[in-house]
Amino acid sequence: MRLDKFVAGAAGLTRGEARTRIRAGAVTVDGRAESDTGRSLAGGEAVCLDGRPLSAPGYVYIMMNKPAGCVCATEDKREKTVIDLLPPELRRLRLFPVGRLDKDAEGLLLITNDGALAHKALSPKKRAGKKYFLRLSLPLPDDKIDILEKGVDIGGYVTKPCGVEKIDDFSAYITVTEGKFHQVKRMLAAVGSRVEYLRRVAFAGLELDESLKTGQYRELCTKEIEKILLTIQ
Ligand code: URA
Repeated sequence: MRLDKFVAGAAGLTRGEARTRIRAGAVTVDGRAESDTGRSLAGGEAVCLDGRPLSAPGYVYIMMNKPAGCVCATEDKREKTVIDLLPPELRRLRLFPVGRLDKDAEGLLLITNDGALAHKALSPKKRAGKKYFLRLSLPLPDDKIDILEKGVDIGGYVTKPCGVEKIDDFSAYITVTEGKFHQVKRMLAAVGSRVEYLRRVAFAGLELDESLKTGQYRELCTKEIEKILLTIQ
């Protein structure tokens, strides 16, 4: 790997910032100042920035309680994105949201720079469960629960079996293993109900930390990362 890429990733700098620091003599490789930004590292060299050792950049895993009003994208010309809610030192780590929640939806969103984990967590083959709390503006009659659970036509596509836990006529939990566009809203509409509010509470073995207020985020602990890996293995 090139030295500037390594320093950028390990220190949370942009590639340009890393080059400036390298050229200024702030970086040593195996104890010697190195000003060649493109120097190739074989791996295993001791790289220091301002005398402090840098370790290979690891992956970052963040749980966000997504607020309504922002979109699940890394950039958007018109809308605020979930990445915009993160501080600059995290935004530099090329993080992206794993899957999508609608702009008006809230709840559990995994944000990472681990492409392989994201790919598996979203793969239909892995059937990773996504659980949502729903508040409804049109009631969900008892006789529709079975129909929803077996699968409904949401416009040219019949949904896979899912789990529904009715709380009362105007609220329920639903656990699906797919992620079609507006899937849950369209499923409820297919049985004559209507979603007024949707919050994801679990995804791929990870549960929303209810102590996070909407818009807040935190890094996952090792146990939570392991739980995801077990779920999607
Ligand atoms: N289903 C929806 O309708 N919206 C979401 O944001 C997620 C699932």
